[in-house]
Amino acid sequence: MSTPNIQSDEPVIAVKGLKVGYGDKVLLESVDFSVRRGEVFVILGGSGCGKSSLLKHIIGLYQPMAGEIWFGTSNLVGARGDERLQILRQFGVMYQSGALFGSLTVLENVRLPLDEFTELPMQSKELIALTKLKMVAMEAAGNKMPAELSGGMQKRAAIARAMALDPRILFLDEPSAGLDPITSAGLDALIKDLSKNLGFTFVIVTHELQSIFAVADRVIMLDANTKGIIGTGKPEELRDHSPNPWVRQFFNRQAEAPPQVSLAV
Ligand SMILES: Nc1ncnc2c1ncn2[C@@H]1O[C@H](COP(=O)(O)OP(=O)(O)OP(=O)(O)O)[C@@H](O)[C@H]1O
Ligand SMILES: [Mg+2]
Repeated sequence: MSTPNIQSDEPVIAVKGLKVGYGDKVLLESVDFSVRRGEVFVILGGSGCGKSSLLKHIIGLYQPMAGEIWFGTSNLVGARGDERLQILRQFGVMYQSGALFGSLTVLENVRLPLDEFTELPMQSKELIALTKLKMVAMEAAGNKMPAELSGGMQKRAAIARAMALDPRILFLDEPSAGLDPITSAGLDALIKDLSKNLGFTFVIVTHELQSIFAVADRVIMLDANTKGIIGTGKPEELRDHSPNPWVRQFFNRQAEAPPQVSLAV
């Protein structure tokens, strides 16, 4: 059997001259990047600079103010009707709020996109959902309710749900937010595994330095002041060679020790 879908230079998605904002408020402009098949591509930037907004524009929730989003030979900006649906169906998404539906079992949550977008018989949908749960090592939890799961398990189940329709690309907004460092490292290992062994392509928003070095093939760093990309490349390259001092500083920052609180009376 040949190795599936290893990394290649072929872009899965190419963003050109994208201008992102709401109403007359511009957050980002002239954003250009492309994501290669099989890579883990990380988006960084300070809080509020527009990382989630960029993702939401790329996945078609909002219409960009300008620019193009190429997926194969189709430009999502301007695509309508079936062409648009065909593109959007190939995106798997885990939002920053990322929640599973609390009233559905884990398996039903993962099955949901199949219920919505396919007319497969129930048996097939359950089998596919169970396969996705296996991919994230959660097959034993299918009948549990989300509230019964730990935070890390909920994230894994949400990733399984994002994979339900066999997307060409997965977008994860801050997957390790709220997780302890060990659980977060487990999630990083899962992402790396899905990418390197199964050929999934990821676009991930995170600012956890450890995660970035653990999973990222390439990163872009966004900046609110310049409303654009201030660094692009491998994390090690940016840490050691970025011409921008802010970028170097971000990658070189050490885990800060908690403040020493004096309890002297
Ligand atoms: N639907 C919306 N309509 C209007 N303004 C919005 C909308 N969504 C986000 N914003 C604003 O856009 C700016 C960027 O928000 P966004 O959530 O994209 O930032 P972020 O980089 O993801 O931040 P964080 O790191 O805190 O998640 C914020 O000022 C926010 O209030
Ligand atoms: Mg965000």
